[in-house]
Amino acid sequence: MPDPSLSLTHRPRRLRRNANLREMIAEGDLPLRRLVQGHFVVPGKDRVEPIASLPGIARLSADRLLMKVDRDLNLGVRAVMLFGVPEAKDAKASGAFDAQGEVPQAVQLLKQNFGDDLCVMTDVCLCPYTDHGHCGFVEGGQVVNDQSVFALAEMAGVLAQAGADFICPSDMMDGRIGAIRSHLDGQGFENTGILAYSAKYASSFYGPFREAAGSSPGFGDRRSYQMDTRNTREALREVQLDLEEGADMVMVKPALAYLDIVRLVSEIADVPVVAYNVSGEYAMVQLAVKEGLADERTMVLEILGSMRRAGSDLIVTYHASRIAREGWLS
Ligand code: PBG
Repeated sequence: MPDPSLSLTHRPRRLRRNANLREMIAEGDLPLRRLVQGHFVVPGKDRVEPIASLPGIARLSADRLLMKVDRDLNLGVRAVMLFGVPEAKDAKASGAFDAQGEVPQAVQLLKQNFGDDLCVMTDVCLCPYTDHGHCGFVEGGQVVNDQSVFALAEMAGVLAQAGADFICPSDMMDGRIGAIRSHLDGQGFENTGILAYSAKYASSFYGPFREAAGSSPGFGDRRSYQMDTRNTREALREVQLDLEEGADMVMVKPALAYLDIVRLVSEIADVPVVAYNVSGEYAMVQLAVKEGLADERTMVLEILGSMRRAGSDLIVTYHASRIAREGWLS
């Protein structure tokens, strides 16, 4: 019998021989401090409404949100992204400018209790507040840009007044970053930051969110403002424009099907890059786990790890609370 061993110069498996060695040399780095937990906020008190499309996530009133965030913060989740789920909707999105609305009140409560220990980010968009569910005002069947931008700036002012650390416009209207920046500065909120949803695609991965927020468009779709899923250059242009208009951070959304875009944006942007692990990505994992097709911990960490590897600094996700609670990253 000839000697069965090959005379190989390179044996990459030497570096994978045992767990200790693998830990020592692993490149990826996914600390809890990089994660932002998404929350849905409803008006009223003592409300905890599980969301069928997002297993493990519930719509919370401000008092219940406070309890949840307190627990998460103690476990190391130091940032939240808030979405409003108002009771009333109308053509003018009146609820978006109400200083007593569910989100401004929740922001106030969180900031009173946690101060700078908690970074409070607030989604800014008209879709949860309009009766037609579009992200801007509608005239003659069209989503109009400039009037919508003025309204978004107004909404941003209300949230800044409540104490939000970052205003996060997700509407994809043109020129909103500049308009929000100058409105905030004019009101004396020059230290309130803007995290721009810069490269936001017209994606099929937002379904569970729209059910959670009751924000599905009543007619048509969002393709006249959100980006075409086939495009790359357009994403880079949107990022460039938002940076010129004063964005402090930029986002790519969704994340999982757009890791190439996260990588490219992280190469051109001179600000932190945020990836949004959206509701459809979260729901897919939960369904796979429920069907016994995947182990939740390994799948979640693999997915979020890919977003870090692609170049994101922060990841907005619905998995953060559970990761912290289960100690998956410690
Ligand atoms: C509001 C908004 C949406 C999401 C975040 N902000 C919905 C949409 O654009 O239709 C989606 C987030 C998710 O799916 O987790 N414009």
